[in-house]
Amino acid sequence: MSVKILMVCLGNICRSPLAEGILASKLPANKFTVDSAGTGSWHIGHAPDARSIATAKNNNLDISNQKGRQIEEADFDKYDYIYVMDTSNYSDVLELTDNPEHHAKVQIILNELYPNENVDVPDPYFGMANGFEIVYGMLDEVCDIIANKLIAKHS
Ligand code: 4NP
Repeated sequence: MSVKILMVCLGNICRSPLAEGILASKLPANKFTVDSAGTGSWHIGHAPDARSIATAKNNNLDISNQKGRQIEEADFDKYDYIYVMDTSNYSDVLELTDNPEHHAKVQIILNELYPNENVDVPDPYFGMANGFEIVYGMLDEVCDIIANKLIAKHS
């Protein structure tokens, strides 16, 4: 059975689609499934932001087929690991369930790189064009660590 990882941000059009594509590219597809969702509902059914698609493409990754969706309570049973992009996503996701086993699946993604520091992946949506490259670099670095850990743990 596949190990399932969910990447979560606010809109599911900028950061978590990049995180999904980057982590999936570092894991064997026969053992791991990577998906993404947003805490908000604005972009259900939408493709990723054009700037995320372009940044991924610059790094030889195609994320253009992804479709936005909103995280729901059933996801806590479906997924083994839930990585959120920032502290606000973290509190929004925890609010969806009271189950401590579900809460234990949720991690602030950059804590894998900077343990216990609760550093945010900055939301590039309203920011400067190079915000997307900065986010890509952060996610690429932390996804290397996550992929190595997951492969070691589940093989
Ligand atoms: P994301 O960025 O959480 O990285 O996908 C955002 C995209 C859209 C909105 C907020 C954040 N929005 O308010 O529509």
